[in-house]
Amino acid sequence: MSPAILLNGSPVSGWADLDRELSDRFVATARYHVRAPGRVNLIGEHTDYNEGFVLPVAIDRAVRLAAAPTADPLLRFRSRQFDEEVALPVDRPEEPRLPQWTRYIQGVAGQLLRAGVTLRGTAAVVDGDLPPGAGLSSSAALEVAAALALLAIAGATLAPRQVAALAQRAEVEFVGVRCGIMDQLTVALGRPGHALLIDCRSLEISYIPLPPTLALVVCDTGVRRALGESAYNDRRRECEVAVHRLRRVRPQIRALRDVGPEESSLLDDLPQPLRRRARHVVTENQRVRDAVEALRRGDGVAVGRLLNASHASLRDDYAVSVPALEAMVEAAMAAPGALGARLTGAGFGGAVLALVERDATGVFVEWTRTAYQTATGREGAFRVCAASGGAEVELTGAPG
Ligand code: GLA
Repeated sequence: MSPAILLNGSPVSGWADLDRELSDRFVATARYHVRAPGRVNLIGEHTDYNEGFVLPVAIDRAVRLAAAPTADPLLRFRSRQFDEEVALPVDRPEEPRLPQWTRYIQGVAGQLLRAGVTLRGTAAVVDGDLPPGAGLSSSAALEVAAALALLAIAGATLAPRQVAALAQRAEVEFVGVRCGIMDQLTVALGRPGHALLIDCRSLEISYIPLPPTLALVVCDTGVRRALGESAYNDRRRECEVAVHRLRRVRPQIRALRDVGPEESSLLDDLPQPLRRRARHVVTENQRVRDAVEALRRGDGVAVGRLLNASHASLRDDYAVSVPALEAMVEAAMAAPGALGARLTGAGFGGAVLALVERDATGVFVEWTRTAYQTATGREGAFRVCAASGGAEVELTGAPG
């Protein structure tokens, strides 16, 4: 049997497995190995598309892809997770619209063409240990991984920021989710041991060290969310309508980012639910700044309180929680070693992020697992995540 890495009980193929499958399926020898991490957002939810602040972390769970150049004018991708295979013409990769996982690749390929890259025949096998729909940005990881593989095979290069921007455009324009830039920037530019404080207006990134005494535990509810669902786009539209109304009073407001916490009385004239949505964004931006200060002081207790407050705001004001997330947050907050917990990612399902004292991680997971199962009858999945580096391409050394 081929070597496999065991992570939280699910076997993950090593590079040798991907290489073998590439050779078996496509009669191709791997030229590149690409790894693109997922991300977990510490705090700053639904603030990126409001030009505000976010504090995500690239994690040690990733999309992995082995790729080779081929002679035919096709982009052929096989997903081990979905056990499906597609072939797209190099000059028209966006036609026809194919199953969901493929759309991220199609969208990215289309954006590369628009950026002037001449795509070349490619065969690739994709795998990973990022569960789709769990709020860990498996889609952004797939977009960035596909972009890096296609660029490498085309003999072209783009800066990581450009790759992130192109991947976001693919998701907005082709997949139809009007997402912000947080996920793709984090996947492209993560740094081991650090969170990324991103100013989503200037796109400036400051790397914030994570105290080694704190552990990030991703508590997956097992309830899946489809981001394409209209609820995410609905929230974004509500924010735009709120800005439009606020502008009548204060023309210099371009985004909710421009409303400071001391100006929250400006929101009083907004009708509901716009007032609540805007209040979440305004208060969340301040919580991100406060969390950065608390991390710099090494004050895990204060960061945990901010996580709890973020969750309450996402539940009550932004209305993106669901019963499974509530059950998981409740279980996690009461568990030994917990400093704070909140839903992470877009919401409507997916995972809770808990901040835990590192020494108590084992007992925290067992306690939370049991409490969640007792409350919901569901089996949660728990991942202790380390902050990792951003996406990378490695030349395998196979002859060209
Ligand atoms: C998804 C989007 C991000 C961000 C989060 C919510 O992950 O892709 O851009 O808006 O939801 O914070």
